[in-house]
Amino acid sequence: MSEIAVLVGSLRHDSINRKFAEALERLAGDRMKFTYADLASLPHYNEDLWANVPESVTRLKAVVDGADAVLMVTPEYNRTFPGVLKDAIDWGSRPWGKSSWGGKPVAITGTSPGVIGTAIAQHHLRTSMVAVGTAVMGQPELYYAYKAEHFDADGQITDKATKDYLETWIASFADWIAKTGK
Ligand code: FNR
Repeated sequence: MSEIAVLVGSLRHDSINRKFAEALERLAGDRMKFTYADLASLPHYNEDLWANVPESVTRLKAVVDGADAVLMVTPEYNRTFPGVLKDAIDWGSRPWGKSSWGGKPVAITGTSPGVIGTAIAQHHLRTSMVAVGTAVMGQPELYYAYKAEHFDADGQITDKATKDYLETWIASFADWIAKTGK
């Protein structure tokens, strides 16, 4: 079973991205164990804080360091990814020589009610994750235009075409981890 550090770029209680991540978790079954990183308490990146490292930063780096791979599930805010994810990327990339990202297999997805389903946010995020040296899965892509009617009351995906595609995508992520992971 692969350990997956999951970074959801929304802090909202009723986040559709969190719901989407949990649907993916169910589809992954016993192939993956998801650990959701707590991004709510991360401060903005500030080099001075390394003198007295915030607990939230230590925890974030421990979750990523201990994982076989990273799953990023992003909303789109004004045609890019939210600042909370950028702070997580920046904290994870430091101190110099102790980046948590180098070589990690990464998959990026996300959802919004808009028809392009976070495509632009995901591409921006991809650029940053390549810059920090992760092995980002290029294909298949997963831009999900959120539809409440695709989910049942327990948060399971019931729409067959969507579920089939998500299953293919998760299987591809598992293959990607096997190919590129340590
Ligand atoms: C949005 N939303 C949005 N949606 C989109 O498809 N493209 C966009 O550029 C934006 N921009 C945007 C900016 C800001 C500041 C907010 C708060 C929202 C709508 C967004 O997709 C919607 O609120 C989702 O429900 C956010 O995801 P979570 O928080 O439910 O996971």
